[in-house]
Amino acid sequence: MCGIVGYIGDQEAYPILIKGLHRLEYRGYDSAGISLINNQGTLSVYKSKGKVSALEKSVEGKDISGTIGIAHTRWATHGEPNATNAHPHFSQSKNLSLVHNGIIENYKSLRAELEKNGMTFCSETDTEVLVQLVEYMMNSHRCDLYTAVQLALKNVVGAYAIAILEKSHPDQLVCARKGSPLIIGVGTTPSGRKEFYLGSDATPIIEYTNQVIYLNDEEIAIMDRTGRLDITNLSNVKQTPQLVTLQMNLDQLEKGGYPHFMLKEIWEQPAALRTCIRGRLNVVDKDVLLSGIIDHKDKFLKCRRIIICACGTSWHSALIGKYFIEEACKIPVEVEYASEFRYRNPVILPDDIVIAVSQSGETADTLAAIQLAKEHGAFLYGICNVIGSSIARATHTGTYLHVGPEIGVASTKAFTGQVITLCLLGLAIAKEKKTLPDELFHILVDELQQIPDKMQWTLENNKDIDKFAQMFTYCKNFIYLGRGYNYPVALEGALKLKEISYIHAEGYPAAEMKHGPIALIDEEMPVVVIAPKHGMYEKIVSNIQEIKSRKGKIISVVTQGDEVVRNMSDYSFIIPDTRDCFVPMLAVIPLQLLSYYVAISKGRNVDQPRNLAKSVTVE
Ligand code: F6R
Repeated sequence: MCGIVGYIGDQEAYPILIKGLHRLEYRGYDSAGISLINNQGTLSVYKSKGKVSALEKSVEGKDISGTIGIAHTRWATHGEPNATNAHPHFSQSKNLSLVHNGIIENYKSLRAELEKNGMTFCSETDTEVLVQLVEYMMNSHRCDLYTAVQLALKNVVGAYAIAILEKSHPDQLVCARKGSPLIIGVGTTPSGRKEFYLGSDATPIIEYTNQVIYLNDEEIAIMDRTGRLDITNLSNVKQTPQLVTLQMNLDQLEKGGYPHFMLKEIWEQPAALRTCIRGRLNVVDKDVLLSGIIDHKDKFLKCRRIIICACGTSWHSALIGKYFIEEACKIPVEVEYASEFRYRNPVILPDDIVIAVSQSGETADTLAAIQLAKEHGAFLYGICNVIGSSIARATHTGTYLHVGPEIGVASTKAFTGQVITLCLLGLAIAKEKKTLPDELFHILVDELQQIPDKMQWTLENNKDIDKFAQMFTYCKNFIYLGRGYNYPVALEGALKLKEISYIHAEGYPAAEMKHGPIALIDEEMPVVVIAPKHGMYEKIVSNIQEIKSRKGKIISVVTQGDEVVRNMSDYSFIIPDTRDCFVPMLAVIPLQLLSYYVAISKGRNVDQPRNLAKSVTVE
């Protein structure tokens, strides 16, 4: 949801900012803009509708010089996506320019107040209110920019990550955050002086430095060309910045020969999951080691209920986690849409553990859900991919996925990474609670270790999905069915198809068909059935019969060697045999590939589907 980049140092800012915007484009891509102060002290703002490449075209021939600048790629909330509403926004006097990620909830009343005081507005955005408010504070309190930002933000309700340039002080960059992420990269110029980078995440920074500071909520930072970096909170109390070394490399941010990040990330899954379980799953000693559980063993031993909060794909992996944890640990688990949980006065008991599952670690609803749980005294566990993210920092402990940056908007490797992490979590709790017989525990450890190899097999043995997918280019609807552990896989398969091909798709528990949706079945309706040999095999076979007798087209996911379901199907994807509880990590792979290739056959932009953004930092 919007990406921010910034730079101050000795280098030309424009190339750094544009490259940074390309890296952050997955966060929003309906308009983009850039602001620079050149060596003559001119503060310019260039903005355009559409992608970052449109911005690049629009500045051809213009003055883009300067060693300080801020830039923004937008996912519209207030005001339609056009150049006027794009960021950066000027203040009325054009002395300030500002970029913003987040939502200012009280922007209407602030705007009315500012208008009463003679300020005029050009756009419909909440962001313009911020920059005008800062300027108003500077003028009315006769203070510097830093103080004005502090004063302005005290009046703001909502979430923000902001960066501001001031024409009359071209040697300093000011930024602040609350609720939306902002990272400061600290580099060294060839002359040995410090230079500073800003990013909504680490991707625009890692090319230049791996030394970063994660700004905390309600902190304001000022950086200047002498290498000064000061951070205070809104009450002007000085904060000590913590320098962190990023564990990320540039290759992870490139497509590496694949046409799209999504395809790269689908194929990366075996390696990503190997990294995720490394050091955590020990097949020699038949052990599972998760420091988050070991360090907080008592909490898990006395826990009477687990609540998992998540959104979208992460909610689907949470559902698989629920089935596994309940089976392995005999603890009741509730899975909640974070957006519902946060607003419905949920009952949170003292011995509850609340788990947040989030790839980005920035999803606004998930963050708010755990903040609510924290207020009720719950113990919070985070399962995030992005290191240092808001959810990772707001929880008491947790487990990182370590599957590498996920750039494609449609989540793939994070989903399977979340599922395997929840399986590790279930096994680690079961070990402490002694809820699984040793023999079964050892079998599960051995089998989980083999999942990455089995994923590789699945990828290599379903290579003709690209040709098969073309049959569905003009299809209007799809149904996905699964039972038990594979019901969430059906939901996930349907979501993947919807979000990148824009074909309507529904996921259902297979047995629910006869309670209504079966009325939709005719010869036009492709029905994807996840029908592995284990679980409720016989039951799903009879669900397939019901669909076939209504002339639905069956596309099945079957266990290698299962000729029965294969013969009943119009087309089958094959996966290797595994334990019922681990099937989702294999079964989802052909469904990811199917959605990818159907979207390609429709000419869709799979990495940046319409209306979506990777990191949903607004509710
Ligand atoms: C779908 C997808 C979204 C996210 C959801 C939660 O492919 O990516 O549904 O899963 O927005 O995001 P995180 O996991 O970052 O909290």
